[in-house]
Amino acid sequence: MTAPARPATSVSRPITGGLATGVWCLSTPNSSYVLAVAADGRLLQRHWGDRLGDVDSARLGEAAAVPPYELPLESQEPLPVDGGLRWGPPSLQIAFPGGVRSLELELVGDAVAAEPGAHRLDLVLADTRFPLQVVLHHRVRDDSDVIERWVTLRHTADSGEPLRIIRADSGNWLIPQLGDYRYSVVSGGYSAEGQLRRGRLPDGEYRLTSRTGITAHHANPWMMIDDGTATEAHGSVWSVALAWSGSWRLTAHRLFQGRAAVSAGFGHDGLSWPLDPGAELTTPPILGLYTGGGFGAASRGWHQHARAHVLPHPGEDRPVLYNSWEAIEFDVDEAVQLDLARRAADLGVELFVIDDGWFSTRTSDRSGLGDWWPNPGRFPGGLATVARRVHRLGMRFGVWVEPEMVNPDSELYRAHPDWVLHFPRRRRDELRRQLVLNFARTDVRAWALDWLDRLVADNDVDHLKWDMNRGFSQAGWPERGDAQDWLWIDHTRGVYQVIDELRARHPALRIESCAGGGGRLDFGMLARTDQVWPSDNTDAYQRQSIQHGLSQLYPAAVMSAWVTDKPYSHDEQRNQYAYHVAMAGVLGIGGDLNTWTDARHEQARRNIVLYKQIRAIVQRGAQYRVGDPPGAGLTAIQYVLGAESVLFVYRPHAEVAPGPDALRLAGLDPDAAYTDPDTGAVAAGRTLMSAGLPIGGRLPAGDWASAVIRLNRTAPRPRAG
Ligand code: DGJ
Repeated sequence: MTAPARPATSVSRPITGGLATGVWCLSTPNSSYVLAVAADGRLLQRHWGDRLGDVDSARLGEAAAVPPYELPLESQEPLPVDGGLRWGPPSLQIAFPGGVRSLELELVGDAVAAEPGAHRLDLVLADTRFPLQVVLHHRVRDDSDVIERWVTLRHTADSGEPLRIIRADSGNWLIPQLGDYRYSVVSGGYSAEGQLRRGRLPDGEYRLTSRTGITAHHANPWMMIDDGTATEAHGSVWSVALAWSGSWRLTAHRLFQGRAAVSAGFGHDGLSWPLDPGAELTTPPILGLYTGGGFGAASRGWHQHARAHVLPHPGEDRPVLYNSWEAIEFDVDEAVQLDLARRAADLGVELFVIDDGWFSTRTSDRSGLGDWWPNPGRFPGGLATVARRVHRLGMRFGVWVEPEMVNPDSELYRAHPDWVLHFPRRRRDELRRQLVLNFARTDVRAWALDWLDRLVADNDVDHLKWDMNRGFSQAGWPERGDAQDWLWIDHTRGVYQVIDELRARHPALRIESCAGGGGRLDFGMLARTDQVWPSDNTDAYQRQSIQHGLSQLYPAAVMSAWVTDKPYSHDEQRNQYAYHVAMAGVLGIGGDLNTWTDARHEQARRNIVLYKQIRAIVQRGAQYRVGDPPGAGLTAIQYVLGAESVLFVYRPHAEVAPGPDALRLAGLDPDAAYTDPDTGAVAAGRTLMSAGLPIGGRLPAGDWASAVIRLNRTAPRPRAG
């Protein structure tokens, strides 16, 4: 049985060991990760799982001294190289001058450093003959079970030929011996992002990759592994996530002899990057989280980590937004937007965002991308007039941008046709009539930063929706010759750099990441954005499975969710269901308010009032999935923040699944009393978690039944004895 999770407090001796013993043990509040040098000098992973004491980890070092002949060693290595007697998927692959392959690395040093709230271990390896240094970095934090790893590759010569990097993963994670291996990942596509999939990990290699230049819709760079028996509340789960927003590759390798390992890093197969003398390449972090508390605890561990160490402003309430894109698409102008703004403010909306169509000749997707000045016919007073009015209405002002793109029919493209990704003598394939600007170029970054800076400063912009609507193609940069594959890395770094600089210049600015829906959601992007548009699919029922999949890793505070004009929105109960789905994330409104009936306005007002009362719990609380997964009966999500809890219950189809009449809650204080402020009912936390909360009477009859139930801890119960 697994010990109860330790609260996030400081960890005594988070990194022990050293070169003298050849064993290093890194510990988080609830887990340990042990590396040791084997008899032949190779560095091996000896443990990743429950937290160990010093004596146990030292013993693991002794065990490492005996070569485990029964297993190919490479999957146990933290960064298996292409070299020697190794035949698995390499995490590091380099071609040296003269076409020499087969890396031969030896451990030459280690360094432990204390950082604020964290400890870091660097293990330094060097090639025995060629000028290459490989540093394996590790960070453990006092208040998170996430272990962070990344790698620096250094060409240590002053002159000479470059080394060619063919693969540079951020790390390989060994999963311990289990009876079986099951993966959890998300699959999907445009308008169907984040579909959770679980299955038996096959022998051999199971690979997920993005070749799109962005994180992608069809997969997300993470994987969870368990032995096939873990549930929401029980069982050991190992998860690995790459913090990167460009192309990536993640490979799970299952050996016939038992054991599995997961290696991941940026870039996809077929690329290579020359590393010049004196240069270095630092990979993005790969994050690993072990929990003994099931999938629910894994998700809460990731959410807590995102709040504590990733998101720029985790403590802020995300505002209720209005955006007219879903209602009127490109038909934006000053009069229409101001009219909508007045109506939105009357509903209680706090952030008003103008989407696509406000600039230059952009009245459809045919032209104008790249020419970032207000369309004078549509916005005669510029954006500043609208911003002023929106601010006067008491709302924040937001604008849609797509800085990485250009329509060939634009002044920008006519002036700089060489700024897009392209190869000579090859087509420039358009998608949505647009091409990708090469953000690896410093002139493109400077141009973007300049107009974004002016846009934000001149118009008092509080919020940017940063969109990116197509994957890379013909991804060349002819001036860079043999080195042009660097653009796959440097485009993403360029986007990061522009956003980081923009935020530094405008500390009050908040940014939403969007890529034709949820094509760019990952821990790299979340480190510099505040929320994400998860999908262009705003059907509430389908959104449930999207939110379910994405929330395996990412907290509700980043998941924008709008109530829009669906064909069913005249049906009050079904529309209420849509509000309840959206309120389990960051509520927004996307319908055409001018066509709404008074009843719909009133329904919106009521729900916005309620959302403002509960959003701190949703956005910052611990999430428990206490019902069925979406699509299978009675779905329920509970959030707990301190003394308050809120439960969302959904029963889409009454006849298929009447569902249980009580739901067993989680995360409450068993010895405290909880009061439902709406009914006055009082129950003990223990009762609510074991007998359950009766919900039969709380759900309306029929299809699309949903409810929000609040519980407040009113008094700690006197303890027995
Ligand atoms: C794709 C986004 O996902 C939509 O929300 C909208 O902003 C359009 N782009 C605008 O072109």
